[in-house]
Amino acid sequence: MAKVSIIGAGNVGASAALFLAQRDVADIILVDIVDGLPAGKALDMVQAAPVQSFSVSVTGSTKDYSPVAGSDVVIITSGLPRKPGMTREDLLKTNAGIVKSVTESVVSQAPDCILLMLTNPLDLMTYQAWKVSGFPANRVVGQSGVLDSARFSYFVAEALGVSPADVTAMVLGGHGDTMVPVPQYTTVSGIPVTQLLPKEKIDEISQRTRDGGAEIVNLMGVSGYYAAGASLAKMAEAIVRDQKRILPASALLTGQYGLDDLYIGVPIKLGAGGVEEIYEIELDEESRTELNKSAAFYKEQLQVLGY
Ligand code: APR
Repeated sequence: MAKVSIIGAGNVGASAALFLAQRDVADIILVDIVDGLPAGKALDMVQAAPVQSFSVSVTGSTKDYSPVAGSDVVIITSGLPRKPGMTREDLLKTNAGIVKSVTESVVSQAPDCILLMLTNPLDLMTYQAWKVSGFPANRVVGQSGVLDSARFSYFVAEALGVSPADVTAMVLGGHGDTMVPVPQYTTVSGIPVTQLLPKEKIDEISQRTRDGGAEIVNLMGVSGYYAAGASLAKMAEAIVRDQKRILPASALLTGQYGLDDLYIGVPIKLGAGGVEEIYEIELDEESRTELNKSAAFYKEQLQVLGY
């Protein structure tokens, strides 16, 4: 049985664990620094197994990384979440320190794993994990676009009164205010969304997608976690089962899109090798400009981190 470890058994980590357990593809280890929390959540989850019909194990560990040994995928969600009014970038330095220490512990136990990052600011923390781990870039990937595209898809489905299952959206760029929803590659059962909704409505949905995280923080005082957890589970399954799924995710660019030495959201092929391919797709003028703006912002932030 494959093994997926999740560092940070908080809201996102635990949601990812539950969605992944229900996919029944890998044993799951939850790790946190809080006494009892990962073991308690793990026990609660396996007690759902007879009801939800899954057979994988879920176990918890506090501070001890030895159960992480041999993991195929390690998901890092540990960090401080955003508070109302706080941008993801405010979290930069604190979470960079947490990601550094966690990555070092993970690498010591699972030197061959694929690192799947979630801690915000996502694109910067993914870069940080790549640097600290010393892994080749294909083995370090960030979850961003799956969630952002899911939000975009949902809002399109809602506007059209159709099933969200029929909407495929594309959101590129950084996982923050500069993200780039790409209507050009958003379709409803193959029909371009641009043929189904007027530009003003698409613009409104794009903006709501950019503000999607903040909208939830403002409603309930903490970041959302179900959709992020589901997105992590989808990506972990793609790796463990070598599904070679094409999805937007944060990957290291080495010249693609004219950009170099930064992690940012682009379409990738995700399989057992991690980021197996980065697709350099044609973008219209507006999306291209937005992607460049997003990249410039993250380049600046990387300097703040000392890179
Ligand atoms: N090692 C392991 N776990 C840690 C560490 C650490 N060094 N530091 C913090 N944690 C744990 C916390 O104890 C907590 O259980 O990380 C968990 C984070 O969970 P939540 O506070 O519920 O936050 P969550 O909503 O899950 O968000 C996780 O995603 O959106 C980002 O910025 C957000 O970085 C945050 C991450």
